[in-house]
Amino acid sequence: MTFFVKPVAPDRLPDLLRQMPKAELHMHIEGSLEPELIFALAQRNGVTIPYANVEALRSAYAFTNLQSFLDIYYAGASVLRTSQDFYDMAHAYFVKAALDNVVHTELFFDPQTHTARGVSMETVVDGLHRACVDAQKDVGVNASLIMCFLRHLSEEEAFETLEQALPFRDKIIGIGLDSGEIGNPPEKFARVFARCRELGFHLVAHAGEEGPPAYVWTALDVLKVERIDHGVQSSKDAALMQRLAKDRIALTVCPLSNLKLCVFPDLASHNLRQLLDAGLAATVNSDDPAYFGGYVNDNFMQTFAATGLSAQHAYTLGKNSFDASFIDAAAKRRYNDQLTACFEAFS
Ligand code: HPA
Ligand code: ZN
Repeated sequence: MTFFVKPVAPDRLPDLLRQMPKAELHMHIEGSLEPELIFALAQRNGVTIPYANVEALRSAYAFTNLQSFLDIYYAGASVLRTSQDFYDMAHAYFVKAALDNVVHTELFFDPQTHTARGVSMETVVDGLHRACVDAQKDVGVNASLIMCFLRHLSEEEAFETLEQALPFRDKIIGIGLDSGEIGNPPEKFARVFARCRELGFHLVAHAGEEGPPAYVWTALDVLKVERIDHGVQSSKDAALMQRLAKDRIALTVCPLSNLKLCVFPDLASHNLRQLLDAGLAATVNSDDPAYFGGYVNDNFMQTFAATGLSAQHAYTLGKNSFDASFIDAAAKRRYNDQLTACFEAFS
């Protein structure tokens, strides 16, 4: 049933966007490492980084495409060594998420970028999982973990990573696919995703960020994912748009990421409104907020300001975020009731 939202004056919309409860479903925890924390962890662990100070590092965040970002993102993650490092990184994100009224989040992590440096899977998962447990009691954020395979590596390496993760299976709700998209189509990981599916993991994949609509099709039809991460290139394929709308496949859209990685020339040209108006279950997320200039509420506020989205769109985005999450039906109902109560009280 559609909840009709009373119109909200443009100058009051930012308050509503800030206050509304929301789920964040596309957040790479390594992408929440702020330069200050990178330097603090580098010092703690005796790691050298090729930047003189925080300002020099931050000023290197001028990206031209996905790969130019990934090079700096993997370098930043190299300061993470101990379980406590992973805990501290995730805890810092949860504090910020709570301020943005994120009540539920499903965090991506990239174990291969750590295991390649000799950090064990146990170290990574233990630190992140402890932070998720504490997030609920410390700041009221419900959190779970999605392990991503790096698509520039081989399927064989993904299988090895899956093997390493199986002892911690109860701490991981799903499997994702990230890193450099072009030239690494979803079908490269057909067998390992089939195995993850047999094991009962939820499945998602980045597709249609820079890559073509064909990658979204194969993420759906070969990998059998439940959500598409990004997916903004889908608007180039009318049949794909119909499929996504008909099957209510959520797209976890990240507008500031798309802006910083030059997927769209400016936020006013972003296609979020087109996706929503075509009936797709789009959501708004931050991707790698420490690198892209904003957390989830910054994504909401800047995109609404640039594209003229309404309070009704805000409600739809909030509801889509809960409906697309991997929580049970009762929890979805509870969060959606909180969302409706927030909009009713906002008058
Ligand atoms: N795309 C692909 N891989 C990533 C991203 C992204 O936006 N962020 C972190 N790894
Ligand atoms: Zn991403």
